[in-house]
Amino acid sequence: MSRLFAIAAALFAAVAVSAQSAATVIIPRPVEAVSLKGSYIVGEKCVIRTAEQSLVRPAEIFAGYVAGEEGLSLAVEQSGKRGGITLSLDAALAKEEYRLTITSKGVVIKGSTPQGVFYGLQSLRQLLSAAEKCKKGYELQGVDITDKPLLGHRGAMLDVGRYFFTVAEVKRFIDIAAMHKLNIFHWHLTEDQGWRIEIKKYPNLTKIGSKREQTIMGRNSISKTYDGTPHGGYYTQEEIRDIVAYAAERYIEVVPEIDMPGHMVAALASYNHLGCRDEKFKVRTRWGISKDVLCAGKETTFEFVEGVLSEVISLFPSKYIHLGGDEAPRNRWKECPHCQKRIKEEGLKDENELQSYFMHRVEKFLAERGRKIIGWDEIIYGGINKSATIMLWNDRNRAKATSLGNDVILTPKYFCYMDYYQTTRPYSNKEGLMFRDERILTLRKAYSLNPYEGMQPSEYGRIRGVQANLWTEYIPNFHRAQEKLLPRLAATAEAGWSSGKKDFEDFTRRINHLRRLYDKAGLHYATYFFDGVDE
Ligand code: ACM
Ligand code: ZN
Repeated sequence: MSRLFAIAAALFAAVAVSAQSAATVIIPRPVEAVSLKGSYIVGEKCVIRTAEQSLVRPAEIFAGYVAGEEGLSLAVEQSGKRGGITLSLDAALAKEEYRLTITSKGVVIKGSTPQGVFYGLQSLRQLLSAAEKCKKGYELQGVDITDKPLLGHRGAMLDVGRYFFTVAEVKRFIDIAAMHKLNIFHWHLTEDQGWRIEIKKYPNLTKIGSKREQTIMGRNSISKTYDGTPHGGYYTQEEIRDIVAYAAERYIEVVPEIDMPGHMVAALASYNHLGCRDEKFKVRTRWGISKDVLCAGKETTFEFVEGVLSEVISLFPSKYIHLGGDEAPRNRWKECPHCQKRIKEEGLKDENELQSYFMHRVEKFLAERGRKIIGWDEIIYGGINKSATIMLWNDRNRAKATSLGNDVILTPKYFCYMDYYQTTRPYSNKEGLMFRDERILTLRKAYSLNPYEGMQPSEYGRIRGVQANLWTEYIPNFHRAQEKLLPRLAATAEAGWSSGKKDFEDFTRRINHLRRLYDKAGLHYATYFFDGVDE
C-alpha cells in the first residue's frame, strides 16, 4: 500500500477529528457527523427555501425559534431555488431520519417526512446557537450529518392533576419536548387531587372535581398543615383541541391518560355512586395513595368510563390511550358486595384478576373504536392482553414485564422521574421537597439509562421507547417544573434517540452548549450540575 494511501488516511483522520467538533454540539447525539471543508454564514439575508408545501410550516416554526433565540429573522419562501437553507423530501430516508449538510454553498436538510426535516431543523438550531458570531451572521462549519432515532416512543409526561398548568405553560412544555426531538407528550389529566379535562356528559367532573379546598404543606408523610387556599383549573375541549394541534405541528403526539381504577377521588367527589360505598368524597387535599377507587362491580362504573372515553377519543387522535392502572388498593373491593359478586360471576380468582377484568373490558371498548391501551406496570398482576403496552416504572416488575412479549415503554423511576432530587445532599434542600430523601436522580444517573439493560438482542424489539415523567406533588408552578426537567430531560432524550457507547464526558461538553440555548430560549433550568454541586 502506497504512501499516498497513508497520507490520504492521515488527512481523513484529521478531518474526522474535527468532525467530532460538529458532533460535540448536538443533543441527542447524532448517528454520524462528518466534517466537510468550508463554512457557511447564516445571516439576516439568509432565506429558508422549500418547494414543498408540507415543509413551509416546520420552516416557519424553526424561524420563530431562531428569531427569539438569536434575534435573526429568516424569511421562509416556497420555491425550488437553491441556496440559503434548503428543505426537501427524500423518500429514501426512514420516517424520522434526516440528513443535514452544510457546505460553503448553503445548508441542505432532507427527510422522507416533514417530521424528519423538523428534526434536522432542531439540530441546525443547536448548531446556530453554538456557532461563532461574526459581522455577517453565524458561521457554521461544513458538516454532513446522518441521523435517526433509536426508539419510536420518546416521551415526556406532565402531571397536571396535582397542580394545574395553563395552556401557555403546556405549550411551553411541548416546545421543550420538541427541542429534544421527543415525539410523545403524555398528558396525565386526572388525579385524586384534580380532574382537568372537560367532559360534556359529566359536567360535575370539572364543576366539582377540578377544585380542591386546600393543599397539604410540607412532606405528605408527616405534615398535618394545609395551606387553606383553594386550587383548581381545567382545560375546555376547545383548549385541548388547540393543544393537540399545537403539538402536532411540532410532530408530537399527545397521549392522554385517564388513570383508573385508582387515582379517581376527584371523579368520586363529582359522582359519589362511582365508589364501592355510596359515601360523600372530597377532592383529595393530601398526596399519596387513596383506598377509594372506582367500583369494579357496578355496571354504572363502566357506563361512566365509556362515556368519558368516548369524548376523550374524539379529542385525541392518538392511537394510544393511557388507562393508568397504577396504585389501586384492593381494600374497598374486598368489602364491596358488588365487586365480590363480579368476582364470583366472572370466575375470577381474586381482586388482582378483578382489576384485569376491568382493564380488559375497557381495552375492548377502545379496541372496537380503533385505539390501543397503555398501562402502568401494575396492569400485569392479574394478566394482560398481548395488545396492551406496559409503561414500566417499578424496577421490581422489569423482568416480568419484559418477558411477556408485550411492547414496553421504559420510565424506571430511578432513571426517569424528574420530580426526584437532582443533587445528593446537602444541596437538595434548595430543590424544594420530595416524598423521601433517597429519591435522587442526578444528571449522570439519568444519562446512564440503557434501554436494553440485561436483554438479549432478540428481545430489543420489545422496548418501544423511553420517557421522562414529571409528577407534580411538590411542583406548584411552571418555574419549578422547568428547573426539574432541565437539564435532565436532555439525558433521557439521548437515551431514546442515540445508540452506541455512553460517554458522559462527551455528553457534558454537549450539555454545556445546550445550556446556552436554554438561556437564549428563556428556559429556566437547574444549575447544580453546571456548578459542580450535584454529586
Ligand atoms: C406512578 O408513578 N404511580 C406511575
Ligand atoms: Zn365495588
